[in-house]
Amino acid sequence: MKAEYTIGRILPEDTWALRAAVLWPEKEPGIQCALPVDLDAGVFHLGARKHGEVICIATFMPDRHPALGPEIDYRLRAMATHSDHRGRGVGRQILERGITELREHGIDGVWADARHAALGFYASLGWEVTGPSYEVTLRGLHRLVWRRTDEVINR
Ligand SMILES: CC(C)(COP(=O)(O)OP(=O)(O)OC[C@H]1O[C@@H](n2cnc3c(N)ncnc32)[C@H](O)[C@@H]1OP(=O)(O)O)[C@@H](O)C(=O)NCCC(=O)NCCS
Repeated sequence: MKAEYTIGRILPEDTWALRAAVLWPEKEPGIQCALPVDLDAGVFHLGARKHGEVICIATFMPDRHPALGPEIDYRLRAMATHSDHRGRGVGRQILERGITELREHGIDGVWADARHAALGFYASLGWEVTGPSYEVTLRGLHRLVWRRTDEVINR
């Protein structure tokens, strides 16, 4: 990834513009883009900035998936890279940072509902793609993806 990106914690409101632009186009980029859990205990938001502008986001929250083991007890939501910045490794860097933080806090695994178009992204980063496809209202077909935090991905 080029050095001009700065990765770190961001505030929930710092995610709103990208959530609207990339993930939820029917929404205005404001409070409509807040998730009810955004400020809950244990929830954290990572972002990559270029010249101060947030161009990649991911939100991590405590949430156990009923079909996975109890150790997979965090969930990734609202992962997006600005269309001008895709394919440069910034999404990978955000996920690696998130997984590192989870591991450091004793969290063993993380899962997500992944859009079909993003399955290759998760698979290339060592996430398991599992189970059937399912429709998410307004968002299209998804599959369950998950990853342990203690696996080292050789790249
Ligand atoms: C999916 C998304 C977050 C990827 O972000 P990104 O910053 O472009 O990803 P990176 O550049 O870090 O890619 C990391 C790896 O995944 C691969 N990859 C990225 N997007 C991919 C895709 N859609 N399909 C297959 N592989 C993909 C890259 O080629 C790269 O592999 P490499 O390291 O072997 O070259 C971005 O395309 C996006 O925002 N898409 C629209 C919203 C979306 O679908 N979000 C996910 C919701 S579940």
